[in-house]
Amino acid sequence: FLSLAADDPDFMGREIAEQPETVERILSELAPRVSTGDLWRELGLPHFRRVAVLGCGTSLNAGRIIAHAFGAFGAIVNTAVTASEAGAVVLDAETLVIAASQSGETADVLRALDELQTGRGRVLALTNSMHSTLARRADGVLNCSAGPEIGVAATKTFVAQVVTGVCLALSAMVARGTILRAQADAIVDDLRRTPDRLENAIAVSRQWVPDIVESVRDAQGFLFLGRGAGVVYAAEGALKLKELTYRWAEHYPAGELKHGPLALVEEGTPVVVIESADGRLSANVAEVRSRGGRVISIGGPGSSIPVVDGHPEAFARSGRVSQGRGGNTFAACGPLESVVPMQILARELAIALGRDVDKPRNLAKSVTVE
Ligand code: G6P
Repeated sequence: FLSLAADDPDFMGREIAEQPETVERILSELAPRVSTGDLWRELGLPHFRRVAVLGCGTSLNAGRIIAHAFGAFGAIVNTAVTASEAGAVVLDAETLVIAASQSGETADVLRALDELQTGRGRVLALTNSMHSTLARRADGVLNCSAGPEIGVAATKTFVAQVVTGVCLALSAMVARGTILRAQADAIVDDLRRTPDRLENAIAVSRQWVPDIVESVRDAQGFLFLGRGAGVVYAAEGALKLKELTYRWAEHYPAGELKHGPLALVEEGTPVVVIESADGRLSANVAEVRSRGGRVISIGGPGSSIPVVDGHPEAFARSGRVSQGRGGNTFAACGPLESVVPMQILARELAIALGRDVDKPRNLAKSVTVE
């Protein structure tokens, strides 16, 4: 893949541009071991009935997608746990704990492992650092293989964690006989289209985001809405915007809009909407528009004629594959490529506002204090 931003002066721009090739590399390494179940078996972890994924910040958002994948692929009871709140969580002995941490050094994550009463041998580290404290302390380690990430705000490591974790979930479900190998193959085939989707999302976003930035430059607050897995991506989009621009950003399941956040919408309020394939956000979008809100849509009904901010454009096609259960369908990672325009929006608005996109104020790449 040709990096569209090899000459970006900041690390964040280059790391966003590296996402397609990062996923390509991860899949070429993992895909052959997914539908055989070997990716899971090679970790040597015991049988489990439930899954809890824990992490902080962007890794927690990746963890939410991964937890969701265990539910979608195998109806596994799952939860995502904010690491700093893990002390209040009760787990049974048959719960697989996946600790997701890019650095593997985050104090809240390491402390959570002390606090959780897990069954023996049930902690899997999902990390970008195989030599980290977390990797040493876990019973199994899965490398998310994103390569070094310098920008404080996580981008390519998020995408790497999601894809690696979803491959893990799929492999585990094959190994336990919950999903057939042929079904897993179909999902892996769909995953293999992810690099193209990300590349497309980068190209479209670079075209449209500058205009959007001009129109939201003076906005003090942003809303991000989604449904289903889109809610998690809305959370990640809002997090990037806060980190990079120092502007307020909230995310909500779109259905919650009318239960409170709609009161925030006034003339010009930017509302980023991650459209779902079933078109169920149209009523929410209409409510925002009728109050003068500035709707920035990502994806579109059916995701076949996706839209960015009113511009019809081939973008963010959400690959949907048959789950083989009651005819339901789901996208393995949810609308993963929707994160790209939100990363680029956050970065470009931050640059327009004169922020340091690689080193946002008050934040650190790795937080080793509680
Ligand atoms: C810090 C970083 C975030 C990161 C979080 C968790 O807050 O600024 O970008 O998501 O730590 O880091 P980890 O290394 O555990 O993924």
